[in-house]
Amino acid sequence: MEQNIDQVGAAALREIDSAATPDDVQEANVKYLGRKGLLTQLLRAVAQLSPEARPAAGRRANQVKQQIETACRSALARLEADEGVERIDVSLPGRRHALGSLHPLTQITYRICDIFTRMGFEVVEGPEVESDYYNFEALNIPKNHPARDMQDTFYVSEEIVLRTHTSPTQPRVMEKRQPPVRIIAPGKVYRCDSDITHTPMFHQVEGLLVDENVSFADLKGTLTSFVHQMFDPQTRLRFRPSFFPFTEPSAEVDILCVICRGEGCRVCKQTGWLEILGSGMVHPAVLENVGYDTARVTGFAFGMGVERIAMLKYGIDDIRKNFENDVRYLKQF
Ligand code: FA5
Ligand code: MG
Repeated sequence: MEQNIDQVGAAALREIDSAATPDDVQEANVKYLGRKGLLTQLLRAVAQLSPEARPAAGRRANQVKQQIETACRSALARLEADEGVERIDVSLPGRRHALGSLHPLTQITYRICDIFTRMGFEVVEGPEVESDYYNFEALNIPKNHPARDMQDTFYVSEEIVLRTHTSPTQPRVMEKRQPPVRIIAPGKVYRCDSDITHTPMFHQVEGLLVDENVSFADLKGTLTSFVHQMFDPQTRLRFRPSFFPFTEPSAEVDILCVICRGEGCRVCKQTGWLEILGSGMVHPAVLENVGYDTARVTGFAFGMGVERIAMLKYGIDDIRKNFENDVRYLKQF
């Protein structure tokens, strides 16, 4: 009998010792100590022994029972502690660090600057808080002139505005330099305006070229080359007569709406075309304001909307998405 008890005990301890999970331990516990467990059955058998044999066998069985219980407790403690610890699987691939990327508008601005610097233009910048003089007067827009209504201006004070366009960089640069002048000026501009194609803050890139013998053909060639490099060489564009107080003659450039391909949609307001820039030959009054000799030099200028170009390039249907900081949107570029 006692030999039997010892064998069962040894088997139980071996199983508990090799348990890999707490469940294995529970299983062994039930197998030996449960209601129909192997040791439980032996304990019952002890009760059937003769009075002389019973005490020794009973003592032996209880000792083994205690050993099994102790082994179960310590095995459980060991395995559960292991589970709490994070296991490191060195064969797993590492976690990538999320890298930031340039905002789509920054990428477009860089691309625009890249195309024009290759054509010989230099990049300059002007202030966003601008004087009434540079934003309007130097550009042939006197006080109370109806053309001031073309742009809804944020006034800081009577004489200071948030620039409504990048054109004030034109007189700022010309005041400091003599022709030939060939610059582009990217930056933020502000207007009290908001819908799916307008936001109160947006980006423009100004361009200005002043030299001897500059004609409208140079303007057309430069802008056509730009559009074909920015989009693709097949892109259709049109020069539409327009008006700006600081250019004469003036033209706006539209390109075929890439959302609907000219069919008409809500982005192009059913016209099939989207305006990307304003342009023209620099008005003689602007050149005279900075002291240039209008008998000797002429020039052309243009101002384009960066958001418009981004929308056309990437097929974005709502300009406001650029400013919502939604990573799901930004990640696509
Ligand atoms: C001007 O701002 C002129 N300064 C452009 C210019 C420069 C003409 C040099 C002649 C010579 P306009 O207001 O049309 O023009 O704006 C130019 C471009 O900015 C538009 O073609 C459009 O692409 C973009 N734009 C205008 N308003 C908004 C707005 N609220 N939100 C986003 N883009 C705009
Ligand atoms: Mg316009």
